[in-house]
Amino acid sequence: MINKERLVSEMLSRKISPSVWQIHAFDELDSTNTEARRMVARGEATPAIVLADAQSNGRGRMGRSFFSPGGTGLYFSLLFESAQSPKTVLSVTSAAAVAVRRAIRRVSGIEVGIKWVNDLYLNDKKVAGILAESLLDSERHCFILGIGINLSTAEFPSDLASTAGCLDCHGRIVREALLAEILTQLCPYLEHPEDRSWLDEYRSASTVLGRRVRWMQGSVTSEGIAEEIDSLGSLLVRGDDGTLSVLSTGEITLRRC
Ligand code: BTN
Repeated sequence: MINKERLVSEMLSRKISPSVWQIHAFDELDSTNTEARRMVARGEATPAIVLADAQSNGRGRMGRSFFSPGGTGLYFSLLFESAQSPKTVLSVTSAAAVAVRRAIRRVSGIEVGIKWVNDLYLNDKKVAGILAESLLDSERHCFILGIGINLSTAEFPSDLASTAGCLDCHGRIVREALLAEILTQLCPYLEHPEDRSWLDEYRSASTVLGRRVRWMQGSVTSEGIAEEIDSLGSLLVRGDDGTLSVLSTGEITLRRC
């Protein structure tokens, strides 16, 4: 279980005010993103951090689930109001990927790669994912930024066993320190969403730029080269027929040349 006092102390040492961020910590939830949605429906205060030691129905992108066993991972959602358009959800996700990458480097020295859009990879295995959701009602526009990190999770269901891995298999990373550092890295962007300084690192840490990839648009599957990431975080892919496509959502698969 995340130790709330330790988290508060790690936040204070990084000058992140625990009185600004409401902390909601649970032993187990269906999903921290789903709980954040319920909090919005109940009209609860923001910004908030929703944490769970385990999730019974952790959610990933594209309707997938996110394996979230107790005690071995870091699963949380940040809930905050935003004046930005819901369309900025792509850049929020991409900026968050850079913030998580920087935080991992600062607390552990480990360098992870970013697979467009938002997956963090170490040694060709996915070690973290991000699910950003935007909620618009008549009162307020909220973002829910859900982050799941496989810290020492070593055993995965058979369908994930060849693609998922642990970031810190020996359990050395202090979860509270990592979460507080992620907030430290992310807060400047939340305060200044127009700041695009994360883009350079998003590009340089990319595991897909220059590589052969496969993607789907509607029901059409194409292959080609991932050429560029534009200023909004969209991926520019050159199909084998020479056509340039701009991908702002969806998923790509790395192919061998
Ligand atoms: C993905 O890999 O497609 C995104 C995974 C996001 C998982 C995190 S864990 C905390 C938060 N709550 C959820 O249900 N999902 C996100």
